[in-house]
Amino acid sequence: MKTIIKNGKIATDSDVFSGDILIDGEKIAEVGKNICCDDAEVIDAEGMYVLPGAVDVHTHMDLDVGFARAIDDFYDGTVAAACGGTTTIVDHMAFGPKDCSLWHQVNEYHRLADGNAVVDYGFHGVFQHLHEETLGEMKEIAEKEGITSFKVYMTYDYMLHDDEIFRVLRAAGEAGIVITVHCENHGVIQQLRKEFSEAGCGAAEYHPLSRPARCEAEAVNRMIHIAAMAGDAPLYIVHLSSAEGLHEVLKARAEHRPNIGVETCTQYLVLTDEMYKDPQEGLKAIMSPPLRKDQDREELWQALQDGVIDTVATDHCPFHYKAGKAEKQYGRDDFTKCPNGAPGVQERLMLMFSEGFMKGRLTLPQVVKYSCAAPCRMFGLYPLKGSLEPGTDADIVLIDPDKITEIDRDYIRGASDYSCYEGMKLQGRIEKVFMRGREIVSGGEFLGSRGDGRYLKRGRSILAD
Ligand code: URP
Ligand code: ZN
Repeated sequence: MKTIIKNGKIATDSDVFSGDILIDGEKIAEVGKNICCDDAEVIDAEGMYVLPGAVDVHTHMDLDVGFARAIDDFYDGTVAAACGGTTTIVDHMAFGPKDCSLWHQVNEYHRLADGNAVVDYGFHGVFQHLHEETLGEMKEIAEKEGITSFKVYMTYDYMLHDDEIFRVLRAAGEAGIVITVHCENHGVIQQLRKEFSEAGCGAAEYHPLSRPARCEAEAVNRMIHIAAMAGDAPLYIVHLSSAEGLHEVLKARAEHRPNIGVETCTQYLVLTDEMYKDPQEGLKAIMSPPLRKDQDREELWQALQDGVIDTVATDHCPFHYKAGKAEKQYGRDDFTKCPNGAPGVQERLMLMFSEGFMKGRLTLPQVVKYSCAAPCRMFGLYPLKGSLEPGTDADIVLIDPDKITEIDRDYIRGASDYSCYEGMKLQGRIEKVFMRGREIVSGGEFLGSRGDGRYLKRGRSILAD
């Protein structure tokens, strides 16, 4: 089956031009002007922007955190992704049983995602200990499964210590594997949480105070130096949230430190810690790292303008606010009991388009770079995904810039009963989404089927080259 998307404003990470895209089966066959093909269905994209399908490299579908489980499984979460123009995700695995092999969670995640996901997907592996066999398992998983990135946490119960992180980075660097890191100083956070708890300060407003921006900055700085000492091992800092953390990245960039990738998330660009003022509503935005101040938000946008940050993801990890088990309410009297995380995979591309491009903070190629192309370059998917080159997967999004996307309950396509962005009116609306040549969203309606998503064995990151 062939389709021509005609007369659109085609946006890549380097250019915007008027033209057509010919899709043949699952692939883009041609990109150019006045493409003719007698047996192709024609879609008129006049007045619309045509972007590569977006790629979110930080989601947590079906995340099991022990006392709660993220409510978007791989079906609901990827339907939300698809409706928001995201045609590929790379999901961060949950921790498995104590002392389990790294393979345990790889197998578990295939069980959760295979046959359920509606968009294409890959996984990041996760470290939760460092036993004798663990580094060998990492290399084996990279070779056999195409899981070429693994995460370490510098906080939480299954955090790794500096000596372990150093050994992981050194081995990963030798094998061309990227280590992604959640950077927060564990000791300070634990102490502050204890002090707030003893003082009876359990309201949502204490959550950001218990995880100050300097906790992030200190950990970012430490990671950058440990990676350097580990032979400039490929390092990817997830969900950078603060100006203080960014200043450490700027210092590393000024010193031309190689092989460092940096991600921020839409919530740190759009929302602030004002959300925590209301003890009830604040529960919706309990996530780690927490939301920051206006100044942080502005500096993060500036860093995107300047190319200091590489990608924008979501850390999508929703729990119910009032519906179902209302897991977010576990934190009503004590924020430390609230499961961390919030939805965002559906909103991301339109937030980037509206808050970034339409408000003049970013160019459209920059939106494509941060939402589509760079995530693929970082995680071994480029140019198959995140580009509009002939021969690549026909993952394509059509956005009408003259329409409005109102974020309200009707908008939400995942299992969540809220969005942190509720009440926002975004300039532009996603009209159609194609995944591997098939139209999977039209006018907000999901047209795909459970299990349409394909597992992606990923290649080498540009950070490892
Ligand atoms: O609050 C968050 N980010 N929840 C998801 C788990 C994690 O820390 O990445
Ligand atoms: Zn995360």
